[in-house]
Amino acid sequence: KNILFVASEAVPFIKTGGLADVVGSLPKCFDKEYFDVRVMIPKYLCIPEKWRNEMTYIDHFYMDYLGQSRYVGIMQYIYDGITFYFIDNESYFGGPKPYGDWLYDLEKFSFFCNAALSALPVIGFKPDVVHCHDWQTGLIPVYLKDRFRGGEFFANMKSVMTIHNLKFQGVWDVKTIQRFSMLPDYYFTPDKLEAYKDGNMLKGGIVFADAITTVSQTYAEEIKMPFYGEGLDGLMRARSGDLRGIVNGIDYDEFNPETDKLIAQPYNARNFRKEKGKNKKQLQAQLGLPVDEKKFMVGIVSRLTDQKGLDLVQCVMDELCSDDMQFVILGTGDEKYENMFRHYDWKYHDRVSAQIYYSNDMSHKIYAGCDALLMPSLFEPCGLSQLMALRYGTVPIVRETGGLKDTVEPYNEYESRGTGFSFSNYNAHEMLDTVRYAKYIYYDKKREWNKIIDRAMAADFSWQQSAAKYQELYDWLIGY
Ligand code: GLC
Repeated sequence: KNILFVASEAVPFIKTGGLADVVGSLPKCFDKEYFDVRVMIPKYLCIPEKWRNEMTYIDHFYMDYLGQSRYVGIMQYIYDGITFYFIDNESYFGGPKPYGDWLYDLEKFSFFCNAALSALPVIGFKPDVVHCHDWQTGLIPVYLKDRFRGGEFFANMKSVMTIHNLKFQGVWDVKTIQRFSMLPDYYFTPDKLEAYKDGNMLKGGIVFADAITTVSQTYAEEIKMPFYGEGLDGLMRARSGDLRGIVNGIDYDEFNPETDKLIAQPYNARNFRKEKGKNKKQLQAQLGLPVDEKKFMVGIVSRLTDQKGLDLVQCVMDELCSDDMQFVILGTGDEKYENMFRHYDWKYHDRVSAQIYYSNDMSHKIYAGCDALLMPSLFEPCGLSQLMALRYGTVPIVRETGGLKDTVEPYNEYESRGTGFSFSNYNAHEMLDTVRYAKYIYYDKKREWNKIIDRAMAADFSWQQSAAKYQELYDWLIGY
Protein backbone atom coordinates (compact mmCIF):
# COMPACT_ATOMS: atom_id res chain seq x y z
CA LYS A 1 0.00 0.00 0.00
CA ASN A 2 1.24 3.42 -0.91
CA ILE A 3 0.97 6.36 1.42
CA LEU A 4 2.05 9.91 0.67
CA PHE A 5 2.63 12.46 3.41
CA VAL A 6 2.22 16.01 2.17
CA ALA A 7 3.31 18.84 4.45
CA SER A 8 4.99 22.21 4.61
CA GLU A 9 8.01 21.04 6.60
CA ALA A 10 9.96 17.96 7.67
CA VAL A 11 13.12 17.30 9.66
CA PRO A 12 15.99 17.13 8.93
CA PHE A 13 15.44 19.48 5.99
CA ILE A 14 13.38 22.35 7.35
CA LYS A 15 11.66 22.98 10.68
CA THR A 16 9.66 25.74 12.27
CA GLY A 17 7.82 23.61 14.82
CA GLY A 18 6.77 20.19 16.06
CA LEU A 19 5.02 19.45 12.78
CA ALA A 20 8.41 18.98 11.12
CA ASP A 21 9.47 16.43 13.74
CA VAL A 22 6.35 14.39 13.15
CA VAL A 23 6.48 14.47 9.36
CA GLY A 24 10.19 13.67 9.36
CA SER A 25 10.20 10.86 11.91
CA LEU A 26 6.88 9.00 11.63
CA PRO A 27 7.23 7.63 8.05
CA LYS A 28 10.12 5.33 8.87
CA CYS A 29 8.16 3.65 11.65
CA PHE A 30 5.62 1.91 9.43
CA ASP A 31 5.75 -1.75 8.62
CA LYS A 32 7.84 -1.67 5.46
CA GLU A 33 6.49 -4.93 4.17
CA TYR A 34 2.99 -3.51 3.77
CA PHE A 35 3.44 0.20 3.53
CA ASP A 36 5.49 2.32 1.19
CA VAL A 37 5.35 5.72 2.86
CA ARG A 38 6.88 8.70 1.08
CA VAL A 39 6.93 12.40 1.91
CA MET A 40 6.47 15.51 -0.19
CA ILE A 41 7.37 19.07 0.84
CA PRO A 42 8.35 22.26 -1.01
CA LYS A 43 11.94 22.73 -2.03
CA TYR A 44 12.55 25.93 -0.13
CA LEU A 45 15.67 27.83 -0.95
CA CYS A 46 16.14 28.19 2.80
CA ILE A 47 16.70 24.45 3.20
CA PRO A 48 20.40 24.26 4.15
CA GLU A 49 22.70 23.87 1.21
CA LYS A 50 24.15 20.58 2.38
CA TRP A 51 20.74 18.97 1.80
CA ARG A 52 19.85 20.84 -1.35
CA ASN A 53 23.15 19.96 -3.00
CA GLU A 54 22.55 16.28 -2.54
CA MET A 55 19.02 16.12 -3.88
CA THR A 56 18.63 14.35 -7.16
CA TYR A 57 16.58 15.70 -9.99
CA ILE A 58 13.68 13.44 -10.98
CA ASP A 59 11.68 15.33 -13.56
CA HIS A 60 9.89 18.56 -14.28
CA PHE A 61 6.76 19.71 -16.04
CA TYR A 62 4.70 22.82 -16.62
CA MET A 63 1.38 23.24 -14.89
CA ASP A 64 -1.39 25.65 -15.66
CA TYR A 65 -1.95 27.73 -12.54
CA LEU A 66 -3.85 31.03 -12.42
CA GLY A 67 -3.92 31.12 -16.18
CA GLN A 68 -0.18 30.80 -16.58
CA SER A 69 2.11 27.95 -17.27
CA ARG A 70 4.31 27.36 -14.21
CA TYR A 71 7.45 25.34 -13.72
CA VAL A 72 7.20 22.39 -11.34
CA GLY A 73 10.45 20.60 -10.62
CA ILE A 74 10.60 17.35 -8.70
CA MET A 75 13.65 16.57 -6.62
CA GLN A 76 14.31 13.59 -4.41
CA TYR A 77 16.35 12.72 -1.35
CA ILE A 78 16.39 9.33 0.30
CA TYR A 79 16.96 9.83 3.99
CA ASP A 80 17.05 6.98 6.48
CA GLY A 81 15.38 4.73 3.91
CA ILE A 82 12.49 7.12 3.29
CA THR A 83 11.91 8.84 -0.05
CA PHE A 84 11.36 12.58 0.29
CA TYR A 85 10.12 14.49 -2.75
CA PHE A 86 10.61 18.22 -3.09
CA ILE A 87 8.47 20.45 -5.26
CA ASP A 88 10.66 23.04 -6.87
CA ASN A 89 9.65 26.49 -8.03
CA GLU A 90 11.93 29.28 -6.96
CA SER A 91 9.50 32.10 -7.44
CA TYR A 92 7.28 30.49 -4.79
CA PHE A 93 9.79 28.82 -2.51
CA GLY A 94 12.76 31.14 -2.82
CA GLY A 95 12.10 33.29 0.25
CA PRO A 96 14.33 33.62 3.32
CA LYS A 97 11.94 31.54 5.43
CA PRO A 98 9.38 28.84 4.59
CA TYR A 99 6.41 31.08 5.30
CA GLY A 100 5.30 34.13 7.13
CA ASP A 101 4.32 36.62 4.45
CA TRP A 102 0.63 36.87 4.83
CA LEU A 103 -0.92 37.05 1.39
CA TYR A 104 1.81 35.21 -0.41
CA ASP A 105 1.45 32.14 1.81
CA LEU A 106 -1.96 31.46 0.36
CA GLU A 107 -0.74 31.51 -3.21
CA LYS A 108 2.36 29.54 -2.32
CA PHE A 109 0.47 26.68 -0.72
CA SER A 110 -2.40 26.68 -3.21
CA PHE A 111 0.25 26.25 -5.86
CA PHE A 112 1.91 23.56 -3.76
CA CYS A 113 -1.33 21.56 -3.36
CA ASN A 114 -1.93 21.66 -7.09
CA ALA A 115 1.66 20.83 -7.92
CA ALA A 116 1.89 18.00 -5.38
CA LEU A 117 -1.04 16.14 -6.91
CA SER A 118 -0.02 16.93 -10.48
CA ALA A 119 3.45 15.56 -9.80
CA LEU A 120 2.23 12.10 -8.82
CA PRO A 121 1.50 10.73 -12.32
CA VAL A 122 4.80 12.23 -13.47
CA ILE A 123 6.72 10.42 -10.73
CA GLY A 124 4.63 7.32 -11.21
CA PHE A 125 3.80 7.00 -7.54
CA LYS A 126 0.12 6.34 -6.91
CA PRO A 127 -0.81 6.64 -3.26
CA ASP A 128 -3.76 4.76 -1.81
CA VAL A 129 -3.91 7.42 0.87
CA VAL A 130 -2.69 11.01 0.75
CA HIS A 131 -2.01 12.05 4.32
CA CYS A 132 -2.23 15.83 4.66
CA HIS A 133 -0.88 17.90 7.55
CA ASP A 134 -2.26 21.26 8.66
CA TRP A 135 -3.84 24.10 6.71
CA GLN A 136 -1.07 24.39 4.13
CA THR A 137 -2.29 21.13 2.62
CA GLY A 138 -6.01 21.67 3.29
CA LEU A 139 -6.89 22.02 -0.38
CA ILE A 140 -5.70 18.53 -1.24
CA PRO A 141 -8.69 16.62 0.16
CA VAL A 142 -10.91 19.15 -1.64
CA TYR A 143 -9.07 18.68 -4.93
CA LEU A 144 -9.26 14.91 -4.63
CA LYS A 145 -13.04 15.29 -4.66
CA ASP A 146 -13.04 17.91 -7.38
CA ARG A 147 -10.28 19.10 -9.70
CA PHE A 148 -8.41 15.82 -9.57
CA ARG A 149 -11.37 13.48 -9.47
CA GLY A 150 -11.51 12.58 -13.14
CA GLY A 151 -9.40 9.85 -14.64
CA GLU A 152 -8.29 6.57 -13.22
CA PHE A 153 -5.19 7.78 -11.49
CA PHE A 154 -6.94 9.76 -8.76
CA ALA A 155 -10.24 7.90 -8.75
CA ASN A 156 -9.99 5.95 -5.50
CA MET A 157 -7.42 7.96 -3.69
CA LYS A 158 -8.34 8.54 -0.05
CA SER A 159 -7.25 11.40 2.11
CA VAL A 160 -6.46 11.92 5.77
CA MET A 161 -6.28 15.37 7.31
CA THR A 162 -4.18 15.64 10.44
CA ILE A 163 -4.64 18.69 12.62
CA HIS A 164 -1.46 19.59 14.46
CA ASN A 165 -2.85 22.85 15.69
CA LEU A 166 -6.41 24.04 15.13
CA LYS A 167 -5.38 27.61 15.87
CA PHE A 168 -3.82 27.97 12.43
CA GLN A 169 -6.46 27.59 9.75
CA GLY A 170 -5.32 29.53 6.72
CA VAL A 171 -8.06 32.17 6.65
CA TRP A 172 -8.45 34.78 3.91
CA ASP A 173 -11.46 36.48 2.42
CA VAL A 174 -13.56 34.30 0.16
CA LYS A 175 -12.67 36.07 -3.05
CA THR A 176 -8.95 35.72 -2.50
CA ILE A 177 -9.08 32.05 -1.57
CA GLN A 178 -11.36 31.37 -4.45
CA ARG A 179 -8.96 32.98 -6.86
CA PHE A 180 -5.86 31.11 -5.71
CA SER A 181 -7.53 27.78 -5.08
CA MET A 182 -9.30 27.94 -8.45
CA LEU A 183 -12.35 26.27 -6.96
CA PRO A 184 -15.85 27.05 -8.23
CA ASP A 185 -18.25 29.32 -6.36
CA TYR A 186 -20.29 26.61 -4.79
CA TYR A 187 -17.39 25.57 -2.57
CA PHE A 188 -17.66 28.80 -0.64
CA THR A 189 -20.67 28.10 1.53
CA PRO A 190 -20.68 27.48 5.30
CA ASP A 191 -20.89 23.72 4.84
CA LYS A 192 -17.69 23.72 2.79
CA LEU A 193 -14.80 26.22 2.71
CA GLU A 194 -16.56 29.22 4.16
CA ALA A 195 -16.39 29.97 7.88
CA TYR A 196 -17.68 33.16 9.43
CA LYS A 197 -17.83 34.85 6.02
CA ASP A 198 -14.20 34.09 5.22
CA GLY A 199 -12.58 31.31 3.27
CA ASN A 200 -10.79 28.70 5.33
CA MET A 201 -8.20 26.27 3.96
CA LEU A 202 -8.12 23.92 6.92
CA LYS A 203 -11.87 23.75 7.03
CA GLY A 204 -11.84 22.58 3.43
CA GLY A 205 -9.48 19.79 4.40
CA ILE A 206 -11.60 18.77 7.38
CA VAL A 207 -14.85 18.79 5.44
CA PHE A 208 -13.56 16.78 2.49
CA ALA A 209 -11.02 14.38 4.01
CA ASP A 210 -12.07 10.77 4.34
CA ALA A 211 -10.68 10.71 7.87
CA ILE A 212 -9.46 13.32 10.31
CA THR A 213 -6.92 12.88 13.02
CA THR A 214 -5.33 15.06 15.59
CA VAL A 215 -2.28 14.47 17.68
CA SER A 216 -3.71 13.34 21.02
CA GLN A 217 -6.93 11.87 22.32
CA THR A 218 -7.63 14.63 24.78
CA TYR A 219 -7.18 17.31 22.13
CA ALA A 220 -9.55 15.37 19.87
CA GLU A 221 -12.16 15.73 22.61
CA GLU A 222 -11.27 19.30 23.52
CA ILE A 223 -11.71 20.68 20.01
CA LYS A 224 -15.35 19.67 20.04
CA MET A 225 -15.82 22.37 22.69
CA PRO A 226 -15.92 26.13 22.06
CA PHE A 227 -12.97 26.91 24.33
CA TYR A 228 -10.55 24.85 22.25
CA GLY A 229 -12.49 24.66 18.99
CA GLU A 230 -11.20 27.91 17.47
CA GLY A 231 -14.59 28.49 15.90
CA LEU A 232 -14.70 25.05 14.30
CA ASP A 233 -15.99 23.07 17.29
CA GLY A 234 -19.35 22.61 15.57
CA LEU A 235 -17.65 21.07 12.56
CA MET A 236 -15.54 18.87 14.81
CA ARG A 237 -18.69 17.62 16.51
CA ALA A 238 -20.34 17.05 13.16
CA ARG A 239 -17.39 14.99 11.97
CA SER A 240 -16.66 13.30 15.30
CA GLY A 241 -17.38 9.88 13.80
CA ASP A 242 -14.38 10.30 11.51
CA LEU A 243 -12.12 12.07 13.99
CA ARG A 244 -9.46 10.18 15.92
CA GLY A 245 -6.79 11.26 18.34
CA ILE A 246 -3.45 9.51 17.82
CA VAL A 247 -0.73 10.70 20.13
CA ASN A 248 2.63 11.68 18.66
CA GLY A 249 5.84 9.88 19.43
CA ILE A 250 9.42 11.01 19.10
CA ASP A 251 12.42 9.49 17.37
CA TYR A 252 13.96 7.30 20.08
CA ASP A 253 17.24 7.02 18.19
CA GLU A 254 17.70 10.72 17.92
CA PHE A 255 16.58 11.36 21.48
CA ASN A 256 18.55 8.86 23.46
CA PRO A 257 20.57 9.98 26.50
CA GLU A 258 22.74 6.90 26.21
CA THR A 259 24.08 7.65 22.74
CA ASP A 260 23.49 11.39 22.41
CA LYS A 261 26.60 13.05 21.00
CA LEU A 262 25.33 16.53 21.79
CA ILE A 263 25.45 16.13 25.56
CA ALA A 264 28.46 16.23 27.88
CA GLN A 265 27.85 12.95 29.70
CA PRO A 266 25.75 10.11 28.31
CA TYR A 267 23.62 8.23 30.83
CA ASN A 268 20.78 5.75 31.03
CA ALA A 269 17.98 4.57 33.28
CA ARG A 270 20.40 2.66 35.50
CA ASN A 271 23.14 5.21 36.07
CA PHE A 272 21.40 8.58 35.88
CA ARG A 273 21.76 9.08 39.65
CA LYS A 274 25.50 9.34 39.22
CA GLU A 275 25.84 10.65 35.67
CA LYS A 276 22.98 12.99 34.79
CA GLY A 277 24.20 15.73 37.14
CA LYS A 278 27.39 16.13 35.15
CA ASN A 279 25.30 17.47 32.32
CA LYS A 280 23.80 20.00 34.68
CA LYS A 281 27.22 21.29 35.71
CA GLN A 282 28.32 21.60 32.11
CA LEU A 283 25.15 23.42 31.21
CA GLN A 284 25.44 25.81 34.15
CA ALA A 285 29.02 26.58 33.21
CA GLN A 286 28.10 27.16 29.58
CA LEU A 287 25.23 29.45 30.54
CA GLY A 288 27.29 31.38 33.07
CA LEU A 289 25.13 30.31 36.00
CA PRO A 290 26.67 29.31 39.34
CA VAL A 291 27.80 25.71 39.01
CA ASP A 292 26.02 23.63 41.62
CA GLU A 293 24.95 20.08 40.94
CA LYS A 294 22.43 20.16 43.77
CA LYS A 295 20.51 23.25 42.65
CA PHE A 296 17.01 22.58 41.31
CA MET A 297 17.13 23.54 37.66
CA VAL A 298 14.06 24.07 35.50
CA GLY A 299 14.05 24.42 31.72
CA ILE A 300 11.61 25.79 29.18
CA VAL A 301 12.10 24.78 25.54
CA SER A 302 9.32 26.28 23.51
CA ARG A 303 8.03 28.59 20.87
CA LEU A 304 7.44 31.75 22.89
CA THR A 305 3.75 32.29 22.16
CA ASP A 306 0.50 32.65 24.10
CA GLN A 307 -0.33 29.00 23.44
CA LYS A 308 2.51 27.93 25.70
CA GLY A 309 1.12 29.51 28.88
CA LEU A 310 3.94 31.97 29.29
CA ASP A 311 1.68 34.65 30.71
CA LEU A 312 1.33 32.39 33.75
CA VAL A 313 5.08 32.30 34.07
CA GLN A 314 5.22 36.07 33.68
CA CYS A 315 2.71 36.53 36.50
CA VAL A 316 4.78 34.70 39.09
CA MET A 317 8.30 34.98 37.71
CA ASP A 318 9.47 37.02 40.72
CA GLU A 319 8.13 34.43 43.13
CA LEU A 320 9.67 31.64 41.12
CA CYS A 321 13.01 33.40 41.06
CA SER A 322 13.09 34.28 44.72
CA ASP A 323 13.27 30.60 45.46
CA ASP A 324 16.16 28.26 45.49
CA MET A 325 16.28 27.37 41.84
CA GLN A 326 17.68 28.10 38.39
CA PHE A 327 15.80 28.71 35.19
CA VAL A 328 16.87 28.31 31.59
CA ILE A 329 14.66 29.34 28.68
CA LEU A 330 15.33 28.39 25.06
CA GLY A 331 13.24 29.57 22.13
CA THR A 332 12.00 32.44 20.02
CA GLY A 333 8.60 33.91 19.33
CA ASP A 334 6.51 36.88 20.41
CA GLU A 335 8.61 39.86 21.29
CA LYS A 336 6.79 40.45 24.57
CA TYR A 337 7.93 37.04 25.84
CA GLU A 338 11.42 37.29 24.41
CA ASN A 339 11.86 40.60 26.21
CA MET A 340 10.22 39.36 29.38
CA PHE A 341 12.77 36.57 29.70
CA ARG A 342 15.63 38.88 28.76
CA HIS A 343 14.49 41.19 31.51
CA TYR A 344 14.50 38.44 34.15
CA ASP A 345 17.86 37.23 32.93
CA TRP A 346 19.14 40.74 33.62
CA LYS A 347 17.30 41.07 36.93
CA TYR A 348 18.26 37.66 38.32
CA HIS A 349 21.45 37.03 36.50
CA ASP A 350 22.59 34.25 38.83
CA ARG A 351 19.33 32.35 38.53
CA VAL A 352 17.86 32.92 35.09
CA SER A 353 19.37 32.34 31.67
CA ALA A 354 17.39 33.44 28.62
CA GLN A 355 18.62 31.85 25.39
CA ILE A 356 16.49 33.63 22.83
CA TYR A 357 17.21 31.62 19.69
CA TYR A 358 16.55 28.12 18.53
CA SER A 359 19.21 25.48 18.66
CA ASN A 360 18.83 21.74 18.48
CA ASP A 361 22.18 21.36 20.25
CA MET A 362 21.18 23.50 23.17
CA SER A 363 17.79 21.80 23.45
CA HIS A 364 19.46 18.42 23.96
CA LYS A 365 21.77 19.94 26.60
CA ILE A 366 18.75 21.32 28.44
CA TYR A 367 16.84 18.04 28.32
CA ALA A 368 19.90 16.28 29.70
CA GLY A 369 20.96 18.89 32.24
CA CYS A 370 17.77 20.17 33.87
CA ASP A 371 15.84 18.48 36.66
CA ALA A 372 12.43 19.56 35.41
CA LEU A 373 10.81 20.96 32.28
CA LEU A 374 8.00 23.48 32.63
CA MET A 375 5.18 23.46 30.07
CA PRO A 376 2.06 25.21 31.38
CA SER A 377 0.29 25.44 28.00
CA LEU A 378 -3.08 27.09 27.53
CA PHE A 379 -3.72 24.39 24.96
CA GLU A 380 -1.44 21.74 23.53
CA PRO A 381 -2.46 19.46 20.66
CA CYS A 382 0.30 17.06 21.63
CA GLY A 383 3.53 18.70 22.66
CA LEU A 384 6.85 17.05 22.01
CA SER A 385 9.17 18.70 24.55
CA GLN A 386 7.59 16.82 27.43
CA LEU A 387 8.21 13.54 25.59
CA MET A 388 11.84 14.44 25.07
CA ALA A 389 12.07 15.43 28.73
CA LEU A 390 10.62 12.08 29.88
CA ARG A 391 13.11 10.27 27.69
CA TYR A 392 15.96 12.16 29.36
CA GLY A 393 14.65 11.67 32.88
CA THR A 394 13.81 15.35 33.20
CA VAL A 395 10.57 15.62 35.07
CA PRO A 396 7.79 17.48 33.22
CA ILE A 397 5.66 20.02 35.05
CA VAL A 398 2.60 20.60 32.85
CA ARG A 399 -0.93 21.85 32.67
CA GLU A 400 -3.47 19.10 32.13
CA THR A 401 -4.51 19.81 28.58
CA GLY A 402 -4.28 17.99 25.24
CA GLY A 403 -1.29 15.77 24.78
CA LEU A 404 0.25 16.94 28.03
CA LYS A 405 -2.60 15.30 29.89
CA ASP A 406 -2.24 12.10 27.87
CA THR A 407 1.50 11.69 28.24
CA VAL A 408 2.40 12.90 31.73
CA GLU A 409 1.04 10.93 34.64
CA PRO A 410 0.78 13.17 37.73
CA TYR A 411 2.89 12.19 40.70
CA ASN A 412 0.89 10.60 43.47
CA GLU A 413 2.87 10.36 46.69
CA TYR A 414 0.50 7.90 48.32
CA GLU A 415 0.57 5.33 45.57
CA SER A 416 4.09 6.05 44.40
CA ARG A 417 2.99 6.59 40.84
CA GLY A 418 3.51 9.21 38.21
CA THR A 419 6.07 10.53 35.77
CA GLY A 420 5.68 14.26 36.35
CA PHE A 421 3.67 17.03 37.99
CA SER A 422 0.54 18.69 36.72
CA PHE A 423 -2.17 21.21 37.53
CA SER A 424 -5.54 21.66 35.93
CA ASN A 425 -6.72 25.27 36.00
CA TYR A 426 -5.13 27.97 33.89
CA ASN A 427 -4.03 29.85 36.95
CA ALA A 428 -0.59 31.22 37.75
CA HIS A 429 -0.70 30.37 41.43
CA GLU A 430 -1.79 26.84 40.77
CA MET A 431 1.25 26.56 38.55
CA LEU A 432 3.46 28.17 41.17
CA ASP A 433 2.23 25.73 43.84
CA THR A 434 2.93 22.82 41.53
CA VAL A 435 6.47 24.00 40.81
CA ARG A 436 7.05 24.46 44.54
CA TYR A 437 5.69 21.03 45.29
CA ALA A 438 8.01 19.51 42.70
CA LYS A 439 10.91 21.40 44.21
CA TYR A 440 10.02 20.16 47.68
CA ILE A 441 10.07 16.55 46.47
CA TYR A 442 13.38 17.20 44.73
CA TYR A 443 15.11 18.65 47.79
CA ASP A 444 13.43 16.80 50.64
CA LYS A 445 12.41 13.44 49.17
CA LYS A 446 15.22 12.65 46.83
CA ARG A 447 14.43 8.93 46.70
CA GLU A 448 10.89 9.67 45.61
CA TRP A 449 12.20 12.11 43.02
CA ASN A 450 14.52 9.48 41.62
CA LYS A 451 11.66 7.02 41.39
CA ILE A 452 9.73 9.54 39.35
CA ILE A 453 12.72 9.64 37.01
CA ASP A 454 12.76 5.83 36.92
CA ARG A 455 9.17 5.79 35.76
CA ALA A 456 9.66 8.69 33.35
CA MET A 457 12.54 6.94 31.64
CA ALA A 458 10.61 3.68 31.48
CA ALA A 459 7.62 5.32 29.73
CA ASP A 460 7.49 4.50 26.03
CA PHE A 461 6.65 7.28 23.60
CA SER A 462 8.52 5.94 20.64
CA TRP A 463 6.47 5.89 17.43
CA GLN A 464 5.67 2.17 17.39
CA GLN A 465 2.23 2.20 18.98
CA SER A 466 1.08 5.32 17.18
CA ALA A 467 2.34 4.11 13.82
CA ALA A 468 0.26 0.96 14.35
CA LYS A 469 -2.82 3.15 14.84
CA TYR A 470 -2.18 5.04 11.62
CA GLN A 471 -1.73 1.71 9.84
CA GLU A 472 -5.09 0.60 11.15
CA LEU A 473 -6.63 3.80 9.88
CA TYR A 474 -5.08 3.42 6.43
CA ASP A 475 -6.24 -0.20 6.23
CA TRP A 476 -9.74 0.83 7.15
CA LEU A 477 -9.78 3.63 4.58
CA ILE A 478 -8.45 1.50 1.78
CA GLY A 479 -10.76 -1.35 2.62
CA TYR A 480 -13.99 0.50 2.32
C1 GLC B 1 2.00 21.70 16.84
C2 GLC B 1 1.33 21.65 18.22
C3 GLC B 1 2.06 20.68 19.16
C4 GLC B 1 2.27 19.34 18.47
C5 GLC B 1 2.98 19.53 17.12
C6 GLC B 1 3.20 18.24 16.38
O1 GLC B 1 3.23 22.35 16.94
O2 GLC B 1 1.29 22.93 18.80
O3 GLC B 1 1.30 20.49 20.33
O4 GLC B 1 3.05 18.51 19.30
O5 GLC B 1 2.21 20.39 16.32
O6 GLC B 1 2.02 17.53 16.16
